[in-house]
Amino acid sequence: MRVLRVLMVASEATPFAKTGGLADVMGSLPGALARLGCDVTLVIPAYREVFAKGLAIEPTGLSFDVPIGTRQVSARVFRSRLPGSQSTVFLIANDECFDRPTLYGGGKDYSDNAERFIFFSRAAMELAARQDRPFDIIHCHDWQTGLVPAYHKLLAQSWPMLSHARSVMTIHNMAYQGLFWHWDMLLTGLDWKYFNWQQMEFYGQLNLLKTGIVFADGVSTVSPTYAREIQRTPGGCGLEGVLASRSDVLRGIVNGIDTTLWDPRSDPHIPRPYSEQDFDEGKYAARVALAARLGHAAPDTRPLVAFVGRLVEQKGVELVVELMGRMGGTGRAHFVVLGTGESGTEDALRRVAGSFPGTIDLVIGFDEGLAHLVQAAADIMLVPSRFEPCGLTQLYALRYGTVPVVRSTGGLVDTVVDTTPETLRSGKASGFVFEAFDAIALEHALVRALDAHSNRDLWSGLVRQVMGQDWSWEASARDYLQMFSALEKRPRPS
Ligand code: ADP
Ligand code: GLC
Repeated sequence: MRVLRVLMVASEATPFAKTGGLADVMGSLPGALARLGCDVTLVIPAYREVFAKGLAIEPTGLSFDVPIGTRQVSARVFRSRLPGSQSTVFLIANDECFDRPTLYGGGKDYSDNAERFIFFSRAAMELAARQDRPFDIIHCHDWQTGLVPAYHKLLAQSWPMLSHARSVMTIHNMAYQGLFWHWDMLLTGLDWKYFNWQQMEFYGQLNLLKTGIVFADGVSTVSPTYAREIQRTPGGCGLEGVLASRSDVLRGIVNGIDTTLWDPRSDPHIPRPYSEQDFDEGKYAARVALAARLGHAAPDTRPLVAFVGRLVEQKGVELVVELMGRMGGTGRAHFVVLGTGESGTEDALRRVAGSFPGTIDLVIGFDEGLAHLVQAAADIMLVPSRFEPCGLTQLYALRYGTVPVVRSTGGLVDTVVDTTPETLRSGKASGFVFEAFDAIALEHALVRALDAHSNRDLWSGLVRQVMGQDWSWEASARDYLQMFSALEKRPRPS
């Protein structure tokens, strides 16, 4: 059988650099595709932080110049391997672009993000064209790589080696489109004629995600429900028409999780491994460790309700703030929040946590190990997102026997089944789902969860059930493979 060669291009990947779920997907999808027989190579930027993690990264000796506007910008290439897989990871270095404290600028985006990712996208093409064998699929992720399908289509003569490949644009989040002022078009090296409302322009600005959606041979997003939502307002964030016009090639494939890194049976971040058989003991040990970590002498006996995530509008953190304000005094639960993001949201969390010091623990920051410990220690995980393309937090929660309370949107619809007498009987129940985006609806769902928690047998059954679910990449990687194969069979539009 012919081995499909896939080049993945993305702006972050676990364990090299991470700000959210995209990194986890890039750290695990290549391995899953490799298990299905694909040969996958990943390209990411060589940020400062990738060198600070003790990973085996070596220089390749390869360097080349990339035209960015009127300048030639030099790229140096490093090589590593995705842990637990055979996949090569290429890291593209340029100190001016990537030797910086954060990936995208933290609270406020770097002012030259257009230039940084135009450089990265074009460098990825140059690198791909310098390999011994051609790639069959060029798989791009999010706005940072949106130019890659355009380069592939519009500058095909520059890289004849890649001319028979098909490009795929996967959208992980419509809320981030890579919108820049029109003069950045000059940096792309592409003709101004493409700066029009049907291709690269969006209300007078350069839109890199739109560019990717328009020029890619195939388009996908990270859940079937989100694939439908983004073809309408408000889900499409202004690009609903563009997405609807590509509905013939648009697919929704739900994310899988890395079952090696996220496994309560072997997680090095938790004190005592556990499975469906002994989750009570394992979760209690995690709770003791978490309490110590948060400065408590002993863990609270109340149910532990957690939130882990980026503190941005998408995640519905304001509902969590309001919820904790309403429930903090009732004594029904202990809350723990781990997150970092918008300063206004951080302040609102600090205020409510300050009002209920014995009931709310707040950790502002990004801490991978702590995220694992919280997943293991908590009873209930809140995911009250305004919108959610897929969401991994609820999938990790399921695997750790932490029952999710989620809003009915995007990938949360496709991954969590509300608990009712019927779904409990049929063995499908996996969480508590609410519809309206408001704190009262969230509170009702949480109270249902807490009531269920107080019924020991019911809760144990539910926990065992959710822990037994399979959210590994296996099925979704097959869907990607099928998408790639179908694209290969389609004649390439000129
Ligand atoms: P998104 O990609 O929108 O942020 P996901 O649910 O897909 O949402 O993925 C979030 C990932 O980021 C998960 O791996 C989660 O554990 C992690 N994460 C988010 N915030 C933090 C934090 N403050 N510390 C550690 N991990 C975090
Ligand atoms: C995005 C989305 C999230 C998704 C992740 C990985 O950041 O917000 O829902 O799980 O990408 O695809």
